[in-house]
Amino acid sequence: VLARVPRLVDNEVHVWRVAIDRLSAFVSQYEGVLCERELETARRFRFETDRRRYVLSHAALRHLLGEYLRSSPSALRFEHTARGKPELPRDVNPAGLRFNVSHSRELALIAVTLQRDVGVDVEFARPMAEAVQIAERFFSRGESARLRALPAEQQPVAFFNCWTRREAYLKATGEGIAESLDQLEVTFMPGEPARLLSVRGDAREAAQWQLEAFSPGPGYIGALAVRGRGLTVLCWSWAGGRVVAEGEA
Ligand SMILES: CC(C)(COP(=O)(O)OP(=O)(O)OC[C@H]1O[C@@H](n2cnc3c(N)ncnc32)[C@H](O)[C@@H]1OP(=O)(O)O)[C@@H](O)C(=O)NCCC(=O)NCCS
Repeated sequence: VLARVPRLVDNEVHVWRVAIDRLSAFVSQYEGVLCERELETARRFRFETDRRRYVLSHAALRHLLGEYLRSSPSALRFEHTARGKPELPRDVNPAGLRFNVSHSRELALIAVTLQRDVGVDVEFARPMAEAVQIAERFFSRGESARLRALPAEQQPVAFFNCWTRREAYLKATGEGIAESLDQLEVTFMPGEPARLLSVRGDAREAAQWQLEAFSPGPGYIGALAVRGRGLTVLCWSWAGGRVVAEGEA
């Protein structure tokens, strides 16, 4: 257990796991570090659970980035790309800290690195009756055919492997899920190491990326995409000021 976040060096990615439900008692306290835009978004949620998860994941992000930047959590400002990817403005971030966040149910993942495009995605892997139809809409043609050919009991894990790996890459580039389809191919069979196979039919571009898969909690599947190869991915968990090392991915 460490008192502070670890030092981040050039060839590293830090992936933070935040168990949202463990912070729930402090939601009103954590709300205090959010900006007006975030509070406004929080107020718009219909369900209290969604509001709580939003507040706590944003507060965790602010606390962590604040530690890396030696800034107070509430002083951080974010800029958003046209497609909504939050970034740190260059003037408060000379080291080029980059990050991405994902949340699913009671878990948030926050990936932090230096000067590299980075994206992260986490999903709770539940059986979904409509998995094949969703795959046909969002996966490449080859991917959805391979998913369909799998025995039914392997489909949920394969589906979420594929979903999180594609999404991690699309969040790294900032594109989002909108226009991917046949432009992107990833590995996703149960047990198969995570790898980006092709980007717009280009295997060389795909080889510029490191893709990692995680099991960040029982039932959850996570993926990280970062531009670069041979990078060290270190996993930590953040529990409101307490930092716990979880090892190398
Ligand atoms: C945001 C998106 C990439 C992922 O959504 P998701 O799987 O439901 O949610 P996740 O929990 O994995 O990620 C959400 C977080 O990703 C970040 N994010 C938002 N937009 C992003 C983008 N374009 N690229 C990367 N990260 C993004 C935010 O930190 C967001 O957290 P918040 O909603 O609490 O503020 C998806 O909704 C998407 O494809 N958006 C694209 C939108 C788009 O194309 N808009 C066009 C507008 S003109």
